[in-house]
Amino acid sequence: MRAKLVAGNWKMNGSLAGNQALLNAALPALASVRGADFAVCVPFPYLAQVQQALRGQKVALGAQDVCQFEGGAYTGGVSAAMVAEFGCRYAIVGHSERRSVFGDTDEVVAEKFAAVMQHGMTPILCVGETLAEREGGVTETVVARQLEAIVKRSGIAALGKSVIAYEPVWAIGTGRTATPEQAQAVHAYLRTRVAAVDPRLADQVPILYGGSVKAGNAAQLFAMADVDGGLIGGASLVADEFIAICRAAAGAKDKVTI
Ligand code: 13P
Repeated sequence: MRAKLVAGNWKMNGSLAGNQALLNAALPALASVRGADFAVCVPFPYLAQVQQALRGQKVALGAQDVCQFEGGAYTGGVSAAMVAEFGCRYAIVGHSERRSVFGDTDEVVAEKFAAVMQHGMTPILCVGETLAEREGGVTETVVARQLEAIVKRSGIAALGKSVIAYEPVWAIGTGRTATPEQAQAVHAYLRTRVAAVDPRLADQVPILYGGSVKAGNAAQLFAMADVDGGLIGGASLVADEFIAICRAAAGAKDKVTI
């Protein structure tokens, strides 16, 4: 059975004082939660602070993005090597906000994915369709294309060392969560795509769901056979919500297949 993973994505939120308060509230409670893995993906300027706070804790550190280039004249860029120096285990690549607001193409995301791997971290690859794409019936086409760009650049074996996060764009920050059945259907599709090339690897790769996951809906989502945890935005900024979501992952019994 794949281990469950819950990763908080703080997005562009936080302050030195606020981060400390959030971690002070969340970490003692999470220390006693067994049966799932946890991470927080924080803004670059707070990596050092949160690295320090997570010392000796079971919560891992992640970045929210990396530059696709190794280093040099890329003003404002932050390389994979740099975030690795702060003890990041994970780095998110291809979040829909990066794709839509900052113009990350499938090819750029594939370069970022490769850079994260190159520096010994685990990429959390986000894929997902917009509402128009869902209503146009092309959800599977879109997520397959996003996945394929990675396989083309890094090979199928690389996916075995990554985490996939299915995040329907219409569910992000909207309060409109995908139903457990909608999530399961896309997760199963993604796993089938991988299985077509490497069945063993398909069985291993964790596929998280992201998009308006809350304490109140986490357990139903995590109970689905191919939902291996969550990538949590807004609710990861509220200690009690995040703790409850982490507990839901730890207590998830599985396995509802549709
Ligand atoms: P919300 O949980 O705020 O909908 O955000 C999801 C997300 O984008 C996580 O990466």
